Amino acid sequence: MELLSGNTKNILGLQLPTDPRWVDLAGISLQEILTDHAYCEQKAAMSCISIIQRYSEKEMLVNELAPVVTEEWGHFRLVLQELHKRGLQLGKQRKDEYVNKLLSFQKKGGNAEERFLDQLLTMALIEARSCERFKRLSEGLNDDYLKNFYRRFMESEAGHYALFIKLAETYIDKEKVRNRWKEWLDYEAKIISEPEVRGDRMH
Ligand SMILES: [Fe+2]
Ligand SMILES: [Fe+2]
Repeated sequence: MELLSGNTKNILGLQLPTDPRWVDLAGISLQEILTDHAYCEQKAAMSCISIIQRYSEKEMLVNELAPVVTEEWGHFRLVLQELHKRGLQLGKQRKDEYVNKLLSFQKKGGNAEERFLDQLLTMALIEARSCERFKRLSEGLNDDYLKNFYRRFMESEAGHYALFIKLAETYIDKEKVRNRWKEWLDYEAKIISEPEVRGDRMH
């Protein structure tokens, strides 16, 4: 896929690559990472539903996001299946510090268009970072089956990233989208460099 062929540092415009130690740690805590991943997929499905509910008058957005809900839920089921196959259980959902930090960067009051743009760009960013992490896992793990498993997610989330950017550019002036996206990328680079490296979390 064209947008994944370059150096991972520049993948999907992300400013900072994942710390290489993360893949080793992730390999160690498979139950935790699968559980965390399962909830990420659930949240992705729920977020798409909530965007559809909030912006029901935008026909193209509704039509494009409806199948993504199904896809994300399908991802959740794949991860669940993987847990069960390994005799592991879906653990409890944990606080998602990464997503909470992103949400705190969203514009709250004021302009409805700016709030809409921030919602789409938050989704685009989570998809981009997830895609980058799946790429790391698909390249860095020592298990061929798991490498393949994560590669499928990587490709799917790359498509979702592109869709959220496309939706933003459909409804909002392209230059506004570009400028705000740059601010989001800078902010994300800051928060991704802050926390300790954790192998039991997707982010
Ligand atoms: Fe997904
Ligand atoms: Fe996705």
